[in-house]
Amino acid sequence: MFGDRRTILITAGPTREAIDPVRYITNRSSGKMGYALASEAAKLGYHVILISGPTLLDIPDSVDFIPVETALEMYDAVNHHIGKADIAIFAAAVADYRPAVIPEHKIKKSAERLTIEFIRNPDILGSARKTFGFMGVLVGFAAETEHLEDNAHHKLTSKGCDFVVANDVSRKDIGFDTHKNEVILVFPETTKFPPMDSKYELALVILEHAVKLASVRNTN
Ligand code: CTP
Repeated sequence: MFGDRRTILITAGPTREAIDPVRYITNRSSGKMGYALASEAAKLGYHVILISGPTLLDIPDSVDFIPVETALEMYDAVNHHIGKADIAIFAAAVADYRPAVIPEHKIKKSAERLTIEFIRNPDILGSARKTFGFMGVLVGFAAETEHLEDNAHHKLTSKGCDFVVANDVSRKDIGFDTHKNEVILVFPETTKFPPMDSKYELALVILEHAVKLASVRNTN
Protein backbone atom coordinates (compact mmCIF):
# COMPACT_ATOMS: atom_id res chain seq x y z
CA MET A 1 0.00 0.00 0.00
CA PHE A 2 1.13 3.57 -0.72
CA GLY A 3 -0.80 5.86 1.61
CA ASP A 4 -4.32 4.54 1.14
CA ARG A 5 -3.65 3.66 -2.51
CA ARG A 6 -3.00 0.13 -3.76
CA THR A 7 0.45 -0.42 -5.22
CA ILE A 8 0.97 -2.36 -8.45
CA LEU A 9 4.46 -3.50 -9.42
CA ILE A 10 4.95 -4.19 -13.13
CA THR A 11 7.98 -5.60 -14.95
CA ALA A 12 8.26 -4.74 -18.63
CA GLY A 13 10.44 -4.83 -21.71
CA PRO A 14 13.31 -7.10 -22.64
CA THR A 15 16.50 -7.55 -20.65
CA ARG A 16 19.87 -6.95 -22.22
CA GLU A 17 22.74 -9.28 -21.40
CA ALA A 18 26.30 -8.14 -22.19
CA ILE A 19 28.56 -10.32 -24.33
CA ASP A 20 31.53 -7.93 -24.12
CA PRO A 21 31.82 -4.16 -23.50
CA VAL A 22 30.23 -3.29 -26.88
CA ARG A 23 27.82 -6.18 -27.61
CA TYR A 24 24.76 -7.69 -26.03
CA ILE A 25 22.03 -10.25 -26.54
CA THR A 26 18.37 -9.35 -26.15
CA ASN A 27 14.93 -10.28 -27.55
CA ARG A 28 12.09 -8.76 -29.58
CA SER A 29 9.97 -7.49 -26.71
CA SER A 30 8.98 -3.85 -27.30
CA GLY A 31 7.65 -3.33 -23.76
CA LYS A 32 4.28 -2.10 -25.09
CA MET A 33 2.11 -4.49 -23.05
CA GLY A 34 3.88 -3.71 -19.77
CA TYR A 35 3.83 0.04 -20.43
CA ALA A 36 0.12 -0.10 -21.32
CA LEU A 37 -0.53 -1.84 -17.99
CA ALA A 38 1.53 0.77 -16.11
CA SER A 39 -0.11 3.68 -17.86
CA GLU A 40 -3.69 2.42 -17.40
CA ALA A 41 -3.06 1.49 -13.74
CA ALA A 42 -1.67 4.97 -13.03
CA LYS A 43 -4.69 6.59 -14.78
CA LEU A 44 -6.97 4.50 -12.57
CA GLY A 45 -5.23 6.03 -9.54
CA TYR A 46 -2.99 3.16 -8.45
CA HIS A 47 0.55 3.72 -7.24
CA VAL A 48 2.63 2.07 -9.97
CA ILE A 49 6.22 0.83 -9.74
CA LEU A 50 7.41 0.11 -13.29
CA ILE A 51 10.64 -1.89 -13.47
CA SER A 52 11.70 -1.89 -17.09
CA GLY A 53 14.43 -3.18 -19.34
CA PRO A 54 15.55 -0.94 -22.22
CA THR A 55 12.72 0.13 -24.57
CA LEU A 56 12.05 2.97 -27.01
CA LEU A 57 8.81 3.92 -25.25
CA ASP A 58 8.01 7.10 -23.32
CA ILE A 59 7.82 6.60 -19.58
CA PRO A 60 4.12 6.70 -18.62
CA ASP A 61 3.02 9.67 -16.48
CA SER A 62 2.82 9.34 -12.71
CA VAL A 63 4.68 6.05 -12.27
CA ASP A 64 7.76 5.28 -10.19
CA PHE A 65 10.10 4.26 -12.98
CA ILE A 66 13.03 1.96 -12.26
CA PRO A 67 15.21 1.33 -15.33
CA VAL A 68 17.31 -1.84 -15.44
CA GLU A 69 19.34 -3.60 -18.10
CA THR A 70 20.04 -7.18 -17.12
CA ALA A 71 17.95 -9.97 -15.63
CA LEU A 72 20.09 -9.84 -12.48
CA GLU A 73 19.39 -6.09 -12.12
CA MET A 74 15.67 -6.73 -12.64
CA TYR A 75 15.78 -9.50 -10.02
CA ASP A 76 17.39 -7.14 -7.47
CA ALA A 77 14.93 -4.32 -8.24
CA VAL A 78 11.91 -6.63 -7.87
CA ASN A 79 13.33 -8.11 -4.67
CA HIS A 80 13.74 -4.57 -3.29
CA HIS A 81 10.29 -3.24 -4.23
CA ILE A 82 7.85 -6.16 -4.24
CA GLY A 83 7.21 -5.93 -0.49
CA LYS A 84 5.30 -2.67 -1.12
CA ALA A 85 3.02 -4.19 -3.76
CA ASP A 86 -0.54 -5.51 -3.45
CA ILE A 87 -0.45 -6.75 -7.05
CA ALA A 88 2.59 -7.77 -9.13
CA ILE A 89 2.37 -8.24 -12.89
CA PHE A 90 5.37 -9.74 -14.68
CA ALA A 91 5.16 -8.67 -18.32
CA ALA A 92 8.93 -8.49 -18.93
CA ALA A 93 10.60 -10.79 -21.45
CA VAL A 94 13.49 -11.75 -19.23
CA ALA A 95 16.48 -13.46 -20.86
CA ASP A 96 16.54 -17.00 -19.51
CA TYR A 97 20.32 -17.16 -19.99
CA ARG A 98 23.28 -14.76 -19.88
CA PRO A 99 26.87 -15.17 -21.08
CA ALA A 100 28.83 -17.02 -18.40
CA VAL A 101 31.80 -14.66 -18.68
CA ILE A 102 31.88 -11.04 -19.82
CA PRO A 103 35.41 -10.24 -20.98
CA GLU A 104 36.84 -6.89 -19.95
CA HIS A 105 37.80 -6.07 -23.55
CA LYS A 106 36.01 -6.32 -26.88
CA ILE A 107 36.14 -9.80 -28.42
CA LYS A 108 38.38 -9.57 -31.50
CA LYS A 109 37.75 -11.71 -34.54
CA SER A 110 40.19 -14.60 -34.90
CA ALA A 111 38.91 -18.14 -35.40
CA GLU A 112 36.16 -18.97 -37.96
CA ARG A 113 33.81 -20.04 -35.16
CA LEU A 114 33.03 -18.45 -31.85
CA THR A 115 31.28 -20.27 -29.03
CA ILE A 116 29.75 -18.39 -26.13
CA GLU A 117 28.73 -20.27 -23.01
CA PHE A 118 25.48 -19.19 -21.37
CA ILE A 119 24.30 -19.76 -17.80
CA ARG A 120 20.76 -19.63 -16.42
CA ASN A 121 19.37 -16.38 -15.09
CA PRO A 122 17.20 -16.50 -11.98
CA ASP A 123 13.47 -16.85 -12.63
CA ILE A 124 12.16 -13.59 -11.18
CA LEU A 125 8.46 -14.49 -11.35
CA GLY A 126 9.28 -17.96 -9.99
CA SER A 127 11.06 -16.30 -7.04
CA ALA A 128 8.12 -14.04 -6.10
CA ARG A 129 6.41 -16.53 -3.80
CA LYS A 130 9.28 -18.88 -2.95
CA THR A 131 12.13 -16.41 -2.32
CA PHE A 132 10.60 -12.94 -1.93
CA GLY A 133 7.63 -14.25 0.11
CA PHE A 134 5.12 -12.21 -1.93
CA MET A 135 1.56 -12.81 -0.73
CA GLY A 136 -0.34 -10.43 -3.02
CA VAL A 137 -2.00 -11.07 -6.37
CA LEU A 138 0.57 -12.48 -8.78
CA VAL A 139 0.12 -12.32 -12.55
CA GLY A 140 2.53 -13.92 -15.02
CA PHE A 141 2.81 -13.87 -18.79
CA ALA A 142 3.47 -16.81 -21.09
CA ALA A 143 4.69 -16.47 -24.66
CA GLU A 144 4.08 -19.76 -26.44
CA THR A 145 4.24 -21.14 -29.95
CA GLU A 146 2.20 -24.31 -29.24
CA HIS A 147 -0.14 -25.83 -26.61
CA LEU A 148 -0.98 -22.33 -25.38
CA GLU A 149 -3.44 -23.17 -22.61
CA ASP A 150 -1.58 -26.26 -21.31
CA ASN A 151 1.80 -24.53 -21.21
CA ALA A 152 0.30 -21.47 -19.50
CA HIS A 153 -1.39 -23.71 -16.95
CA HIS A 154 1.93 -25.33 -16.16
CA LYS A 155 3.50 -21.88 -15.57
CA LEU A 156 0.51 -20.88 -13.42
CA THR A 157 1.07 -23.74 -10.98
CA SER A 158 4.88 -23.93 -11.09
CA LYS A 159 5.28 -20.19 -10.40
CA GLY A 160 2.38 -19.79 -7.95
CA CYS A 161 0.48 -17.24 -10.05
CA ASP A 162 -3.16 -16.25 -9.57
CA PHE A 163 -3.51 -16.13 -13.33
CA VAL A 164 -1.33 -16.18 -16.43
CA VAL A 165 -1.79 -14.03 -19.52
CA ALA A 166 -0.81 -16.19 -22.48
CA ASN A 167 -0.34 -15.39 -26.12
CA ASP A 168 0.70 -17.22 -29.24
CA VAL A 169 3.92 -15.60 -30.42
CA SER A 170 4.02 -17.59 -33.64
CA ARG A 171 1.21 -15.38 -35.02
CA LYS A 172 2.49 -12.50 -37.14
CA ASP A 173 -0.59 -10.26 -36.75
CA ILE A 174 -0.41 -9.90 -32.96
CA GLY A 175 2.12 -9.79 -30.16
CA PHE A 176 5.71 -8.62 -30.55
CA ASP A 177 5.97 -4.96 -31.45
CA THR A 178 2.36 -4.63 -32.58
CA HIS A 179 -0.31 -2.49 -30.93
CA LYS A 180 -2.88 -5.27 -30.80
CA ASN A 181 -2.82 -8.55 -29.03
CA GLU A 182 -5.02 -11.58 -28.50
CA VAL A 183 -4.48 -13.28 -25.17
CA ILE A 184 -6.11 -15.89 -23.00
CA LEU A 185 -6.29 -15.53 -19.22
CA VAL A 186 -5.56 -18.85 -17.55
CA PHE A 187 -6.85 -19.21 -13.97
CA PRO A 188 -6.52 -22.36 -11.82
CA GLU A 189 -10.11 -23.46 -12.52
CA THR A 190 -11.05 -21.62 -15.69
CA THR A 191 -9.75 -19.88 -18.81
CA LYS A 192 -11.10 -16.63 -20.24
CA PHE A 193 -10.89 -15.67 -23.91
CA PRO A 194 -11.16 -11.88 -24.34
CA PRO A 195 -11.48 -10.71 -27.96
CA MET A 196 -8.43 -9.38 -29.83
CA ASP A 197 -7.97 -5.76 -28.82
CA SER A 198 -5.45 -2.96 -28.37
CA LYS A 199 -2.83 -3.54 -25.69
CA TYR A 200 -4.44 -0.66 -23.74
CA GLU A 201 -7.89 -2.31 -23.71
CA LEU A 202 -6.35 -5.67 -22.77
CA ALA A 203 -4.39 -3.94 -20.00
CA LEU A 204 -7.73 -2.79 -18.54
CA VAL A 205 -9.13 -6.32 -18.69
CA ILE A 206 -6.03 -7.73 -16.96
CA LEU A 207 -6.09 -5.00 -14.29
CA GLU A 208 -9.80 -5.53 -13.65
CA HIS A 209 -9.22 -9.24 -12.90
CA ALA A 210 -6.18 -8.55 -10.72
CA VAL A 211 -7.92 -5.83 -8.73
CA LYS A 212 -11.00 -8.02 -8.22
CA LEU A 213 -8.80 -10.81 -6.79
CA ALA A 214 -7.00 -8.31 -4.54
CA SER A 215 -10.34 -7.02 -3.17
CA VAL A 216 -11.59 -10.53 -2.41
CA ARG A 217 -8.31 -11.33 -0.64
CA ASN A 218 -8.49 -8.17 1.48
CA THR A 219 -12.01 -8.87 2.72
CA ASN A 220 -11.18 -12.45 3.75
N1 CTP B 1 10.08 -14.49 -16.10
C1 CTP B 1 10.81 -13.94 -15.08
N2 CTP B 1 12.16 -14.22 -14.97
C2 CTP B 1 12.76 -15.04 -15.86
C3 CTP B 1 12.01 -15.60 -16.91
C4 CTP B 1 10.68 -15.30 -17.01
O1 CTP B 1 10.26 -13.18 -14.28
N3 CTP B 1 14.06 -15.29 -15.74
C5 CTP B 1 8.63 -14.23 -16.16
C6 CTP B 1 8.18 -13.43 -17.34
O2 CTP B 1 8.14 -12.04 -17.02
C7 CTP B 1 6.79 -13.99 -17.59
C8 CTP B 1 6.95 -15.45 -17.24
O3 CTP B 1 8.02 -15.50 -16.30
O4 CTP B 1 5.83 -13.45 -16.71
C9 CTP B 1 7.31 -16.29 -18.43
O5 CTP B 1 7.68 -17.54 -17.96
P1 CTP B 1 8.83 -18.40 -18.63
O6 CTP B 1 8.78 -19.76 -18.01
O7 CTP B 1 10.15 -17.76 -18.64
O8 CTP B 1 8.33 -18.36 -20.05
P2 CTP B 1 9.19 -18.63 -21.23
O9 CTP B 1 10.37 -17.69 -21.36
O10 CTP B 1 8.23 -18.66 -22.35
O11 CTP B 1 9.76 -20.05 -20.77
P3 CTP B 1 9.98 -21.30 -21.62
O12 CTP B 1 10.96 -20.81 -22.64
O13 CTP B 1 10.53 -22.27 -20.66
O14 CTP B 1 8.61 -21.65 -22.14
